[in-house]
Amino acid sequence: MNTPYPIYIGNDIFPQLEKEIAAENYTQVIVLADENTYRDCYPFLVSYLPKHQVIPILAGEKHKTLSTCEKIWALLSELAVDRKALIINLGGGVVGDLGGFVAAVYKRGIAFMQVPTTLLAMCDASVGGKVGIDFLAAKNQLGLFSMPKAVYICPKFLNTLPQREWISGFAEVIKHYLIADYLGWKKLKTLSLNEIEVESLIRHAVNIKATIVAQDMNEQHIRKSLNFGHTIGHAIESYFLGFDGEKVLHGEAVAIGMICESHISFQKGLLTEKELIEISSYIRTHFRHHSIPFFTYSHIFDLMLQDKKNQNYLILGVLLKGIGQVKINEIISFENFVESMNYYQKK
Ligand SMILES: NC(=O)c1ccc[n+]([C@@H]2O[C@H](COP(=O)([O-])OP(=O)(O)OC[C@H]3O[C@@H](n4cnc5c(N)ncnc54)[C@H](O)[C@@H]3O)[C@@H](O)[C@H]2O)c1
Ligand SMILES: [Zn+2]
Repeated sequence: MNTPYPIYIGNDIFPQLEKEIAAENYTQVIVLADENTYRDCYPFLVSYLPKHQVIPILAGEKHKTLSTCEKIWALLSELAVDRKALIINLGGGVVGDLGGFVAAVYKRGIAFMQVPTTLLAMCDASVGGKVGIDFLAAKNQLGLFSMPKAVYICPKFLNTLPQREWISGFAEVIKHYLIADYLGWKKLKTLSLNEIEVESLIRHAVNIKATIVAQDMNEQHIRKSLNFGHTIGHAIESYFLGFDGEKVLHGEAVAIGMICESHISFQKGLLTEKELIEISSYIRTHFRHHSIPFFTYSHIFDLMLQDKKNQNYLILGVLLKGIGQVKINEIISFENFVESMNYYQKK
């Protein structure tokens, strides 16, 4: 694959990880896991690791914060972890993003490896070197580009992943087809979820992501296409994170975002109505509906103003130009947004 670090995919890849760690003479090995991945995934990995320390964190997006990082940095300092140490991030996108950020900043950067355990992290978050945390009300507000030493994707970990989390990750899978693979999309639509072979699904997503990232590591142009569904999706995710009530998972928010941003593509004449219906009915078949009342629209739009792709206070989104192609830096107005949300709400 076209990446500056190796990506291993398969159920028997951990002997390779063992070899790679042994070859590097790390001074210490730290495993970062959340409570669930420590319980369900760590037991499969532990026998391949040299002497190490585990740092457990609380699970969930609401812990992807500076305060979690501070606790980890304090522990690393207490353990006298030096610059020649390795951090292994064993978990979903939260552990991967936060652990990568912790590693990239600690002592100006120590080595880290991504061992993703959710479909979302296997198909998307573990690849591409974006690491970061949420800050105030905005998703991934603090972060940087920092490459892992390697990525180890073991699909067997998905056996314990809750179904709702699996579906959430499927949103990023759909995204990769919509932005870059028209023929693949046509085929995907004919398959039920049981008929999909997970390892090939992961390989497909990783391949598309790695190919796009290789052309534009720092997201100046084509890499922006990977944000399809995220301008609106991130704002919806952030909005619901601010409350104690029902949570909307990252992929669920991106699924809503993809329906809305497809509708805006239709509004601007970039998608036909038939294509819009094709996309929105496929997504609606696999994702449950979240009710987003009209009175929340202006709050959500305010959160969209925080999006990192914006310039000069204009919201610049990624739209589809037919299925399988994108148009980046497209202005999304409040009117575009409201119309698209009304379309989503109509069911
Ligand atoms: N860096 C990137 O390029 C990138 C790309 C996409 C998404 N993201 C980020 O990824 C995050 C979402 O990631 P996520 O959906 O993986 O969420 P997550 O890391 O919160 O994991 C979801 C839940 O599943 C549990 N879990 C994980 N693996 C498990 C397993 N194998 N068995 C049982 N339980 C398991 C976790 O403990 C957690 O409760 C968001 O913060 C998003 O911004 C980053
Ligand atoms: Zn995403």
